[in-house]
Amino acid sequence: MSYIGPEEVLRKKQEYLIPCVYHFYQKPMQIVRGEMQYLYDSEGRQYLDFFSGVSVVNCGHCNPAISGPVAEQVQTLQHTSTIYLTQPIVDLAEQLAQVTPGELKRTFFCASGSEANDGAALLAKLHTKRYEFLALHNALHGRTMLTMSLTGLSMWRTEPTPAGGINFVPNAYCYRCPYGASYPECDLHCANAIETAIRTQTSLGVAAMFAEPIQGNGGMITPPPGYFQRVKEILDQYGILLIIDEVQTGFARTGKMFAIENWDVVPDILTVAKALGNGAPIGAFITTDAIAKSYTRPGASTLGGNPVSATAGLAVLDYIATENLAERAAGLGAYFKEQLVALADKHRLIGDVRGLGLMLGAELVKDKNDPAKVPAIEETDVVLEYLREHGVIIGKNGIERNVLAFQPPLIITRDDIDTVITCLDAALTKAER
Ligand SMILES: Cc1ncc(COP(=O)(O)O)c(C=O)c1O
Repeated sequence: MSYIGPEEVLRKKQEYLIPCVYHFYQKPMQIVRGEMQYLYDSEGRQYLDFFSGVSVVNCGHCNPAISGPVAEQVQTLQHTSTIYLTQPIVDLAEQLAQVTPGELKRTFFCASGSEANDGAALLAKLHTKRYEFLALHNALHGRTMLTMSLTGLSMWRTEPTPAGGINFVPNAYCYRCPYGASYPECDLHCANAIETAIRTQTSLGVAAMFAEPIQGNGGMITPPPGYFQRVKEILDQYGILLIIDEVQTGFARTGKMFAIENWDVVPDILTVAKALGNGAPIGAFITTDAIAKSYTRPGASTLGGNPVSATAGLAVLDYIATENLAERAAGLGAYFKEQLVALADKHRLIGDVRGLGLMLGAELVKDKNDPAKVPAIEETDVVLEYLREHGVIIGKNGIERNVLAFQPPLIITRDDIDTVITCLDAALTKAER
């Protein structure tokens, strides 16, 4: 097979795509093939993928256990829309009711994470008959007008006329605590501050609070134990729903099927996308019988729950269960984190290592011993470029784009982790020069 090559792809991209579509790397490669934890470029080079297309291919690239049933479905029945009856959509909804915590049971399917969050917001308004929202600093919830307005990262808030009625509250960013406190002496000040925000910044007409269990784009920010329990208690007191955005954290990545289960909290609405399809476009919000009852006017998403994406979802859930991917992510993640912490001891650039399971981050600062914690922005790019040159792909995020993001497919091995650690060690040494 011959390819046009990265320069020509780039030229066409620059000529025909809207310029907002940005890419990683000074000299990007043309990726042409994927196989489990590996990607291949047009020159035949292999890359160990530790970013999974932003937390999507939890089951591995083109895993035959997923792509097999999907290919068969594409050739049998691809699309009807929900105005006709098909089986995969109801089978998948039934499966989701089984794997989601508490009384979460009813699903609405759509085609992306942004749409899932937008729909969840609508449902919360319909149910509570209230119209305001709470969201967290550093959050990312999507690209529609409302979800962009719920996003707490200015880089992703392009919308020039954001929706009103959204109140932002400080997130649980322990490494840079917004109150200068430390856990546990802080007594979860950031969670308690939500009550102050409700009582001072709102008309007490808040429908719901949006939160990611671990803020992915925000910098892999991982709240401490007890945080979401406290948040839920406060919200319950004021009749405010909790919408947990599992678009990036869901489907076994953090060592549990859903990341919020690490805090033993059941949200009122849970939103999903990305890894449920392992690459097939999918999104959904899931809620209880009681809340679902509030949404009875006609609702439809042309591609939501289409037979192909729903078949992918069913295959993903089956694969996660049969391969024990949650347990695998927990075990491999603990090992990986240990190695990252060992690198942090050795390198002045690593200020913090955080995350759960195989959703880990390392925040780079100029000098970990300097209390100013100056973000090491250029050094982060040096590390990313070095890793890519040496056949390893990772992500970067955070408000200053100085957090290395590790979100590999959950089918990786310990050897893969060792490869990445060895390469990262060399990359950090280069960046520290
Ligand atoms: C936590 C979170 N929510 C929502 C979205 C938006 O999802 P999508 O790009 O599928 O619309 C993203 C995308 O990265 C995300 O990370």
